[in-house]
Amino acid sequence: MEEISQLIASDLQSLEQSIEKLLTTRVSFIKEVVHHIVKSGGKRIRPILVILAARLCGCQDERHVPYAAIVEFIHTATLLHDDVVDNARTRRGTLTANTIWGNEPSVLVGDFLFSKSFDLMVADGIPDVIGVISKATTALAEGEILELIKTSDVETTEADYAEIIANKTAVLLSAACEIGAILGCVDIEKRTALREFGYHVGMAFQLTDDMLDYISSDTTLGKHTGTDLREGKITLPLIHALKEASDEEKNFVSVLLEKPRITKKDFEQVKKTIEAHDGMGYTLRCSVEHIEKAKRQLEVFSPSDYKTALLNLADYIVSRRM
Ligand code: FPP
Ligand code: MG
Repeated sequence: MEEISQLIASDLQSLEQSIEKLLTTRVSFIKEVVHHIVKSGGKRIRPILVILAARLCGCQDERHVPYAAIVEFIHTATLLHDDVVDNARTRRGTLTANTIWGNEPSVLVGDFLFSKSFDLMVADGIPDVIGVISKATTALAEGEILELIKTSDVETTEADYAEIIANKTAVLLSAACEIGAILGCVDIEKRTALREFGYHVGMAFQLTDDMLDYISSDTTLGKHTGTDLREGKITLPLIHALKEASDEEKNFVSVLLEKPRITKKDFEQVKKTIEAHDGMGYTLRCSVEHIEKAKRQLEVFSPSDYKTALLNLADYIVSRRM
């Protein structure tokens, strides 16, 4: 990540300025809430994808930078909403906006950011970009709703899970890459390649996130380990384990998901079941497969520092610890 940040250092600096500049509002409270989350040390993966894709596709000026900011705004809006839905207390090691200010301000500031993003995008008026982003945000909402419907459902299949994470995560990373391609005016083959690259990187990103939720420590993750299980989110490590588990193990998990509080001991027991049936190994292999697919997409581009950076970013996604 260090090397990537150096390669696009000036774009990243412009990005931070752009985030400040585009966040215009009469209501200073909105800025306070947005600053809290935007400055809380996010990895800026989505804006970095916009920038790298645009540079890879030959963008010479900085027209892509406001789009990188817009994508980060949309992501931030979804996090504000998601933390309300999940009733999350911490994110990135700090208290969530809903913990500090309550649910209502979080939802409304999320609405503001979401609307602001469209306002900014329409002002620039590139129909293809507007189309890509509108489709992505619709998918985001669908993904989050699908996940809600499947809460605590032990019958959740791998296909259900794939549909959820594709929509709630992969589609936005895919859109970020595609926007870079559109701004770079490349042909349809390259645009499709970048869209697919972003999609597979996004799938691997969420798979890794869901593994880390079981294995990382609270301090490196910035939120509590085991949160997914406590929120009733059945993710791939568990889905795979349940497919192979004994009736007794399955029963233990379904009873657990009905309980109002999952103890540390319960969580450790679920982890044992996952380990016994290679839930982590399987999820890691899926994640690596997506990264390999992602990297193959970039074969249509000739070698460049930006291509190398995207390939390295893909590898970072599966190897990250936070
Ligand atoms: C995080 O997942 C959540 C998302 C990636 C998507 C959230 C989408 C919405 C709330 C709906 C759409 C909203 C708008 C404004 C279009 P997670 O809970 O698994 O990850 P976490 O551990 O980081 O919270
Ligand atoms: Mg969440």
